[in-house]
Amino acid sequence: MTGVWFAPGRANLMGEHTDYNDGFVLPFALAQGTTVTATGRSDGVLALTSRQRPGPPVSVALAGLAPGAVHGWAAYPAGVAWALAKAGHDVPGATLAFDSDVPPGAGLSSSAALECATALALTGLAGLDVPRQELAGIARRAENEFAGVPSGIMDQSASLRCQAGHALLLDCQSLDATQVPFTAELLIINTRANHQLSAGEYGTRRRECEEAARALSVPTLRALTDCGITSALSDPILRRRARHVCTDNARVLRTVDLLHDGKYPEVGELLTQSHESLRDDFEVSWPEADVAVEAALAAGAYGARMIGGGFGGSVLALLSDAPDAADRVRAAVKHAYDAHSFTLPEFLPARPCAGAHRLRLYPGAFR
Ligand code: GLA
Repeated sequence: MTGVWFAPGRANLMGEHTDYNDGFVLPFALAQGTTVTATGRSDGVLALTSRQRPGPPVSVALAGLAPGAVHGWAAYPAGVAWALAKAGHDVPGATLAFDSDVPPGAGLSSSAALECATALALTGLAGLDVPRQELAGIARRAENEFAGVPSGIMDQSASLRCQAGHALLLDCQSLDATQVPFTAELLIINTRANHQLSAGEYGTRRRECEEAARALSVPTLRALTDCGITSALSDPILRRRARHVCTDNARVLRTVDLLHDGKYPEVGELLTQSHESLRDDFEVSWPEADVAVEAALAAGAYGARMIGGGFGGSVLALLSDAPDAADRVRAAVKHAYDAHSFTLPEFLPARPCAGAHRLRLYPGAFR
């Protein structure tokens, strides 16, 4: 059997570095994503190719597969096969040919798209109907334990559980998901900066949040309802980290209310507040992001903020309803980048699209 599956990248409207603190996030799926053409095979081998990384297929035997056995991009799909098996799902060997239009390194979850496309393809070929919430956990386990990247649950949940025209309110503690209607004019600014700090600093932030929770005698920072309590932390770094997580959680819930009322200018203000909090309290922003946010606001955007883990990647701008809003923001950001001698950014239109799905199935063919 051969089939074609698609899984999108994501942008996040609100709630950054909140997922691994059991908090709330509000991502939406992008039109950009990873497509995989998958054919089952009976020799227990995964043969992996990627249009973006030309070369001979990476061949992985499923029997005895273990973390550390596969390196580079192929660790993500191989890790999904490993995590599916660990979860008790009998997955077949397969020939998987990937193609993606999610720009890598842009903070738009190209790796989650790769994992989630693989998860759907392998379960689809096996005729397994694994619930999306469980599949997201499996894809995350592949990333954490097989590829060795210590991310939270947001990206895989967004790729698998989002719906078109909606943002996904995810409670990262219960994993309950609520679809929130969301149809704003948006622009993603890929700053093309990657400051190579991300991996180490991400782990450091996670540890700082755990330490802050311990010092405040709560299981996780999610448990804080009154953000004023963070001022009890004597360590100024932990105080700032905890304040960001607490206030960003509150901003997610407030954003949901505002979206229901169609109050986009107010949503924009929260976006900008979130950026300031990520810049000053969580200290994960980077110069190109700060300049893009400032230029977007000066050009009339309702709000803008960095998205993803930080130290590189993209800024999300919520545009006003003026007819030339996107053109004005693009021109202002380009102008500001020129003035700072930054590499020019890439602009991507963004609208909330469907989560991962099957595109085609050719039963029995190409065996
Ligand atoms: C990365 C991780 C996510 C999340 C964000 C920050 O994208 O993969 O799990 O922690 O950073 O919000």
